[in-house]
Amino acid sequence: MIKNITDYETVSLDEGRGALAIIDQTRLPGSFEILYLTKLEDIHRAIRSLQVRGAPAIGVAAAIGLYLAALEIDSAEYEVFYGRFKAASDYLASSRPTAVNLFWALRRMEETARQNCALPVPRIKELLRAEAIAIHDEDIGVCRAIGEHGLSLIKDGDGILTHCNAGWLATVKYGTALAPIYIGRMKGYSFRVFTCETRPLLQGARLSSLEMSSIGADTTLICDSMASQVMKNGWVQAVFVGCDRLAANGDACNKIGTSGLAIIAKHYGVPFYVCAPTSTIDLSAKSAEDIVIEERPPEEITEMWFKERMAPEGVKVYNPAFDCADAALVTAVITERGIVRPPFGKNLAALFQERKI
Ligand code: MRU
Repeated sequence: MIKNITDYETVSLDEGRGALAIIDQTRLPGSFEILYLTKLEDIHRAIRSLQVRGAPAIGVAAAIGLYLAALEIDSAEYEVFYGRFKAASDYLASSRPTAVNLFWALRRMEETARQNCALPVPRIKELLRAEAIAIHDEDIGVCRAIGEHGLSLIKDGDGILTHCNAGWLATVKYGTALAPIYIGRMKGYSFRVFTCETRPLLQGARLSSLEMSSIGADTTLICDSMASQVMKNGWVQAVFVGCDRLAANGDACNKIGTSGLAIIAKHYGVPFYVCAPTSTIDLSAKSAEDIVIEERPPEEITEMWFKERMAPEGVKVYNPAFDCADAALVTAVITERGIVRPPFGKNLAALFQERKI
């Protein structure tokens, strides 16, 4: 029997078991299973195989995973400890290339170890625990804030279209793109939610539809190719999507299909909102050209989900997991620190400037 996922955190540290606890997203919506992972290889595989997925959730999982790896290092000598710790961090970093939260979280953990190099190794491990927990806890507040800001852009009864899953399951809780709907529902708002199925891995069909229908939102699942028709019908007042990496110029890299949706939204005059915690903004990427797009196995397209293989053996397959919506198509970026509008180059830089102050 399916449990209510909003009774659980997607990703957390289970100290009793000394494990990373995740909801196994590859089993949803058919069955609900929590995995307790202790080994670095298993955590790497869980990220790679999308048992835990979504940019913020990947970052939190990596931070907790790296803390658990640190606990396993038996040397009391800092140089030896840090060498093994860094190798574990580099290994986790190789699990997926596009979501910048992975690298952001690992960098925070590495900096914690480096800045405290003068302390005894057991104390460094305590500080790594605190940092991993901080990364986890901050995510909850960040998502709630994104939800509040996003909600200010829509009104009761609006039709909202979303792609992939940037909901509860993509973060510790609440999500980014779906956070305005969670917060709105808590305040008594009703929305009509359109979830794009999101080929090839069906995060929209399996996860977003599950999330939205389980909180009682009026949820309609559509194939990716139907978004234009739905917008033409006038059923969508706003598109909300998540983001894996936002470049300094506002180009927004997200699940494959996002760029096409942004083009369609522009055509029909529907605002296109990108929900991105500041941990997803990568000012070192000047534009989409600087972002590595993950390519995944052809089998995800040719045989996964089908009883029998549905494409001829040997057919060439192109399977990019992400694409980038041009900044010119983005109406606004919703961060935990507020809503950023064009010109993004100037306004995103200002957001980070404020943070330094
Ligand atoms: O391949 P996935 O399922 O990890 O892709 C996830 C997305 O594209 C999300 O929209 C993005 O990570 C933002 S999650 C808040």
